[in-house]
Amino acid sequence: MPLQTFHLAALLLLLLLLAPAGRCADATAGGDGGRFVYNGFKGANLTLDGAASVTPNGLLMLTNGTIQMKGHAFHPSPLPFQDPGARNATAARSFSTTFVFAIYGPYVDLSSHGLAFFVASDKELLSAALPGQFLGLLNTNNNGNRSSHVLAVEFDTLFNADFGDINSNHVGVDVDSLVSRAAADAGYYDDGTGQFRNLSLVSRKAMQVWVDYDGAATQITVTMAPVGLSRPKKPLLQTTVNLSDVVQDTAYVGFTSATGILFSRHFVLGWSFALDGPAPALNISALPTLPPAGNKPRSKVLEIVLPIASAALVFAVGVAIYALVRRRIKYAEVREDWEVAFGPHRFSYKDLFHATKGFSDKQLLGAGGFGSVYKGVLRKSNTEVAVKKVSHESKQGMKEFIAEVASMGRLRHRNLVQLLGYCRRKGELLLVYDYMPNGSLDKYLYDRSKGALLDWPQRFHIIRGVASGLLYLHEDWEQVVIHRDVKASNVLLDAEMNGRLGDFGLARLYDHGTDAHTTHVVGTMGYLAPELGHTGKATPATDVFAFGAFLLEVTCGRRPIEQDEHGNHTVLVDWVTEHWRRGLMVDAADTMIPDGFNPDEVSLVLKLGLLCSHPLPNARPTMRQVMQYLDGDMVLPDLSPEYFGFTGMERMYSREFNKNMMSCVSSTSIGAVSDFTGGR
Ligand SMILES: *[C@@H]1O[C@H](CO)[C@@H](O)[C@H](O)[C@H]1NC(C)=O
Ligand SMILES: *[C@@H]1O[C@H](CO)[C@@H](O)[C@H](O)[C@H]1NC(C)=O
Ligand SMILES: *[C@@H]1O[C@H](CO)[C@@H](O)[C@H](O)[C@H]1NC(C)=O
Ligand SMILES: *[C@@H]1O[C@H](CO)[C@@H](O)[C@H](O)[C@H]1NC(C)=O
Ligand SMILES: *[C@@H]1O[C@H](CO)[C@@H](O)[C@H](O)[C@H]1NC(C)=O
Ligand SMILES: *[C@@H]1O[C@H](CO)[C@@H](O)[C@H](O)[C@H]1NC(C)=O
Ligand SMILES: *[C@@H]1O[C@H](CO)[C@@H](O)[C@H](O)[C@H]1NC(C)=O
Repeated sequence: MPLQTFHLAALLLLLLLLAPAGRCADATAGGDGGRFVYNGFKGANLTLDGAASVTPNGLLMLTNGTIQMKGHAFHPSPLPFQDPGARNATAARSFSTTFVFAIYGPYVDLSSHGLAFFVASDKELLSAALPGQFLGLLNTNNNGNRSSHVLAVEFDTLFNADFGDINSNHVGVDVDSLVSRAAADAGYYDDGTGQFRNLSLVSRKAMQVWVDYDGAATQITVTMAPVGLSRPKKPLLQTTVNLSDVVQDTAYVGFTSATGILFSRHFVLGWSFALDGPAPALNISALPTLPPAGNKPRSKVLEIVLPIASAALVFAVGVAIYALVRRRIKYAEVREDWEVAFGPHRFSYKDLFHATKGFSDKQLLGAGGFGSVYKGVLRKSNTEVAVKKVSHESKQGMKEFIAEVASMGRLRHRNLVQLLGYCRRKGELLLVYDYMPNGSLDKYLYDRSKGALLDWPQRFHIIRGVASGLLYLHEDWEQVVIHRDVKASNVLLDAEMNGRLGDFGLARLYDHGTDAHTTHVVGTMGYLAPELGHTGKATPATDVFAFGAFLLEVTCGRRPIEQDEHGNHTVLVDWVTEHWRRGLMVDAADTMIPDGFNPDEVSLVLKLGLLCSHPLPNARPTMRQVMQYLDGDMVLPDLSPEYFGFTGMERMYSREFNKNMMSCVSSTSIGAVSDFTGGR
């Protein structure tokens, strides 16, 4: 029994002595001489840097699930790749290695970057390396530089066209560059059938790799297979590499891996290495277990596409809202309840905006005291229109004015510019008129260079037309409409050169909106009847006064008040009156009228002009009378010297206007004064 006990004890002791040092780092790993084996890395003597670590159960984890990281694990001392004692001293020694790895990507079919086995002369290379596509091996400066002195076998899980990658799941042999010397789809050739079988590097499944370098043949061979399978006979990849060109003396061997914008974890389960001989076999059953692949890789669609899609959606909605808001602001109008009644006369700002090509300067027909006028074409009806943009801040008077616009929209006369409608915006009123192709009359009167001067029959025709239009406003329509701003520049010429009065009633807009105590005189200097200075009240007679000035203007080709270079004003009425006194009335007519004129007609018009310009409103004819005089249905009364004698027009102007008007006019927002001083 004691003998038996002794034997048992001796056997136990023997077993203890012979037993391998456990599942952790193999005993042979110590003083290696270029030969070591790790079946798991618990307690392994490896240099780790970056994100690399050894997990408690002995897995070498090169990257740990943080993005833009690199991780290295390599044999702590450099190995003698060129054996000075060897017979062939110039050739690098052969080596053989095998390892088992697994890549855990965040998604079944997508991962961050891969990992690589390397042989590198200098470990400084690794510290200067970049993560991401550089695999923690090289960087932008030394990639492709022969003095990098590195050989790598990469297991690349991302396609990078810059590096000439063949796809996103390949094995490559790299020398001093991430552009592989040779590459192949990850996979293996089945020993039985000889068929190629794909392996997915990011599948979270462990796979074994064998890398053999034959120093004599300068050939490198890479083989891989799912873990547990014996080494396939047909290698995956074989290519010529002269390691002597890469590593001169000693070199480090190890692993590198890197993550980019996606996290993944790179694991090495076991590794063996040998110089000048086959790598020791790994004990597959002794390898540490991988983390459960059970927390199933999530769907790429849900994890990536969904956030991107929802971000895109949010962005698109944002853009759409922005565009809508912008559009709303761009085309914003002011509409009030009371305007409903005027609906038919209302234009949308959008339509006017498009009609005038966004109120572009190219469409600008003119700019006057009341605002700018743009030419436009209404898309729906394809009609040409003129759009007048009037800035107007005051709300007061607007309602009345719109009512007038609406009612004036119903005014129809062939000597009035048809008002089609309006649109209101904040601080802006837009009036839409028929487009008059021949522009305004003053252009023909004063632009003498063009040779576009009107002959007398044309002028007389226009005068009669305007008189007829004004008569319609004063007497022939359901209510009295006072134009308030009769003048040559408000007379427009249609395609048949008929004179048409435009802008009627617009002046009225400016009569309102201020307190009742100030009298606002609206109109244009030289056309303003003197009594406006006292009363400020526009009447048909004040229109007649302006019409008188207009008659003289058209006949004489001169502005009602002209200013010479010394600042002296010549009042046209006085000037014509002077001619009349001297019996030389016809001499006052425009000398530039082509093809002569009928002196009787000219004389009639000039006299009528003086009559209408009478300082006393009651002495002026009505528009109906004016019409009768022009048509010859009534004989013009003789102008007696007393008619004008008792008070000179000039004094009338200087006294009344300078005292009262100037102050009033200058306080109006429209260009009464500027029209005057702007006289060329
Ligand atoms: C690790 O290896 C290096 C070089 O091979 C050696 O100097 C060191 O003593 C080793 N350390 C341990 C703990 O074995
Ligand atoms: C990974 O390693 C890095 C560096 O050691 C560390 O900063 C980081 O927190 C680690 N990440 C995880 C998820 O453990
Ligand atoms: C030495 O190496 C060269 C090429 O590397 C090879 O051709 C030659 O056979 C080798 N000589 C011996 C003795 O191994
Ligand atoms: C390669 O690297 C070496 C050492 O860093 C440097 O001197 C050399 O200029 C580099 N060559 C090229 C082509 O970049
Ligand atoms: C292997 O994968 C590649 C690329 O993913 C594919 O083109 C090829 O058809 C696959 N081959 C087999 C045998 O599955
Ligand atoms: C390998 O490179 C070394 C050094 O550059 C050279 O001496 C040797 O001849 C090369 N071997 C082959 C097979 O080209
Ligand atoms: C491999 O490892 C297992 C488990 O640790 C052990 O039982 C077995 O004896 C090992 N095989 C060899 C050949 O070392």
